Amino acid sequence: METALLPWKPCDVGDDLDSVQTPALILDLDAFERNLDHLMASAKGLRVRPHAKSHKCPEIAHRQMARGAVGICCQKLSEAFVFAQAGIRDILLTNQVVGAAKLARLADLSQSIRLGVLVDNSEHVKALADAMMGKTQLLDVYIEIEVGGNRCGVQPNTALELAHQIVKTRTLRFAGLHCYHGPAQHFRQESQRHEAIASASDIAGQSAELLRHAGIEVPCITGAGTGTFWLERDSGVYTEIQPGSYAFMDRDYADNLAGPGDVRFEHALFIHTTVMSDSHEGFVVVDAGLKSMSVDSGMPRVHELPGLVYLRASDEHGVVDTTKGKRPSLGQTLRLIPGHCDPTVNLYDDLVVIRERKVVDIWPISARGASL
Ligand SMILES: Cc1ncc(COP(=O)(O)O)c(C=O)c1O
Repeated sequence: METALLPWKPCDVGDDLDSVQTPALILDLDAFERNLDHLMASAKGLRVRPHAKSHKCPEIAHRQMARGAVGICCQKLSEAFVFAQAGIRDILLTNQVVGAAKLARLADLSQSIRLGVLVDNSEHVKALADAMMGKTQLLDVYIEIEVGGNRCGVQPNTALELAHQIVKTRTLRFAGLHCYHGPAQHFRQESQRHEAIASASDIAGQSAELLRHAGIEVPCITGAGTGTFWLERDSGVYTEIQPGSYAFMDRDYADNLAGPGDVRFEHALFIHTTVMSDSHEGFVVVDAGLKSMSVDSGMPRVHELPGLVYLRASDEHGVVDTTKGKRPSLGQTLRLIPGHCDPTVNLYDDLVVIRERKVVDIWPISARGASL
């Protein structure tokens, strides 16, 4: 007789952390909520539009909105659809959207929520204006300025040309300047970050001045991430900030030499993993490897077990050096702080939400894999 195979469930609400199947992505609810509150207090009245690319989780976006965020950022159009379907009404796509099929979907989405998107090319402005023909609600368009990230974005003079082009259309609303400096977020020294954002703020300010001088209002200057947002906040130029990782605080961000004392966040995101082999001297093997975390920013850190070092990852194995710490036993669980939160979250279907050591909720990572 065949045995019915039951669906696999890693845990239930009410379970103790020790009984959660591993590897699992764990959110420490108390630390997470303190991080959300701390950002809102640290923004000191500036508009906050957290980046949802870090969490991809509507439950989290709603908690950010409930604390006063003006909306969220998404990086991908398909991601924005997930959040719009979950009831988020104001989304800035901090990216260029290219291609007829996507522009048609973008135009549709702009009719059900307030939607913004970036441009850094005049053909692109034309394509957006055409895609929006016949729509009643305008699309917010932000010009992306090259402020040092060396990725997308234009120089101030080109921004002026693009702004003239946007204001002449009848379907697009010029919404402001997007001035995000990505690499600066991860500079280790506070002084390097300071220098980079001083320069970014100068370029953003000059661009805005050029437009205003030509009679074009600049409603918003947006940018900033977890590594620098207090610098943009204090620049006198930026009017909105977009940090994402602050909610989780990964190992790479914790390795940055501190900013001013008021902008420390706590680790709230962990990979819960089990020791599955202890057959060697000097190390044990855990069940979380490359398919459980991203190592593009380096290896995870073992949480609260001094001396244990996660040395290397293969697909489903992780080797943890035990020579300088108390050796964990077979079957013992550890918590790892991922090196880079965004691509790690994207590997999981759910966040297992814990308070102290109890599972209090399970939140779907609904936009996981939404990369179109
Ligand atoms: C445009 C933009 N804004 C904000 C962020 C948020 O940065 P972080 O997660 O480092 O806070 C990112 C992250 O890559 C980004 O690309």
